[in-house]
Amino acid sequence: MTVNLVIGTQWGDEGKGKVVDYFSKNADFVVRFQGGNNAGHTIKVGDEVYKLHITPSGVIQGKTAIIGNGCVIDPEVLLSEIRDLKKRGIKPKLLISDRANIIMPYHKILDGAEEKYLGEKKIGTTKKGIGPCYSDKIARKGIRAIDLTDKKSLDHKLDNILPVKKRIFKAYDINERLDKDEILKTYLDYGKQLKNYISTTHIKLNNAIKSGKNILFEGAQGTMLDVDYGTYPFTTSSHVIAGGSCIGAGISPRYLNDIIGIVKAYTTRVGSGPLPTELFNKTGEHLQQKGHEFGTTTKRPRRCGWLDLVVVKHSCMISGITKLAITKLDVLDGLKTVKICAKYKLRDKQIDYFPANIEDVKRCKPIYKEFKGWNEIKKDSKHLSDLPNEVQDYLKYVEKETKVPIAIVSIGPGRKETIEIK
Ligand code: GDP
Ligand code: IMO
Ligand code: MG
Repeated sequence: MTVNLVIGTQWGDEGKGKVVDYFSKNADFVVRFQGGNNAGHTIKVGDEVYKLHITPSGVIQGKTAIIGNGCVIDPEVLLSEIRDLKKRGIKPKLLISDRANIIMPYHKILDGAEEKYLGEKKIGTTKKGIGPCYSDKIARKGIRAIDLTDKKSLDHKLDNILPVKKRIFKAYDINERLDKDEILKTYLDYGKQLKNYISTTHIKLNNAIKSGKNILFEGAQGTMLDVDYGTYPFTTSSHVIAGGSCIGAGISPRYLNDIIGIVKAYTTRVGSGPLPTELFNKTGEHLQQKGHEFGTTTKRPRRCGWLDLVVVKHSCMISGITKLAITKLDVLDGLKTVKICAKYKLRDKQIDYFPANIEDVKRCKPIYKEFKGWNEIKKDSKHLSDLPNEVQDYLKYVEKETKVPIAIVSIGPGRKETIEIK
């Protein structure tokens, strides 16, 4: 029995989809435990490219996929992903936690309205209703998956919720109608379509662990978007760190084995908020163009910068990361020099931790170590020793600074472009 976890160590889009797909081959269950369809996870198998937002990536390898209680689900998006997968010959083996919260139409409308109201100070959310849905969950005004299967329960909850939402709509000058009967009909219909998937996933998962099955957790976003340990308030609204997996799926921390942190060989971020190593020059353009750094969910260009190990070390500590997977190394091909930041200068001091005060984060100036660049990583490299010496130096420095061994090196989007270091 193994219970392993894959999480992002930066601002998301580290290549979690690819790495989860890679490790799924040994898993019986692949479990999402937080976030919703703000995520966009890409899996490339041969010429086929899959972009999944809420369905766990393990479905591509035919594994049983669980959407845990810590997730927020937009049923419309989930049903369309299921349909698309079926069209492509994949019948997802899916289980949805009865306790997962549902993204309702007013969540999506409010996400947009709040961002519009903030203007230049906006968070730059994906506008998928994530923040408003988690807010309602914590305020105990959420609709849960199980409610979609019970007319009386949904009806009663909407009676309590909608009058308050209508008042908030008025305050934001939102003209959209909130018709209870319409919402009730639509969401009960979603409930009918999803009924066979909705179950007590926490019990199934605990039974699976007891009977020796292999579980793989699939994190969404990355530590710097965690609601507590990220660049708050420019974060998402869930716990994306390793600890979130236990809460978001209903298992004990005692069961966790390997915690695999994905580190993109440089840094990217979509949306607002500080990014200390951001580049506004030709190198930034190189990373964006060569790395195809455009949002999987919103298509927005991702901001790019050098690898920031202050961030990665922060992630390793918070989540107790036991192994690193370094992705997109090939994107650094062709650069004369490459840089890594391991410390910041804040006022007249050097610091190697991530400040809580967002204004201090903005003041941090990265201190870089420079490395000689390399021409090209051969696509058919199978061992670490096949990589240029300069790449090996780069990787050694990451291990030395983080004190965490590298287990995976990814040199292309495809399944085969992966080097496993035993
Ligand atoms: P996720 O959200 O962490 O799953 O990452 P995304 O799928 O949003 O973004 C990662 C992008 O990089 C996807 O288009 C992947 O196909 C691609 N990718 C993953 N690993 C590599 C790699 O090692 N090299 C290159 N060039 N692309 C990669
Ligand atoms: P994956 O799983 C990158 C960012 C948004 C915004 C902030 C809040 O593909 O790595 P939200 O809609 O969650 O309220 O937006 O978080 N964000 C992501 N950035 N990758 C993601 O997911 C993200 N999910 C949310 O851009 O800055
Ligand atoms: Mg993504």
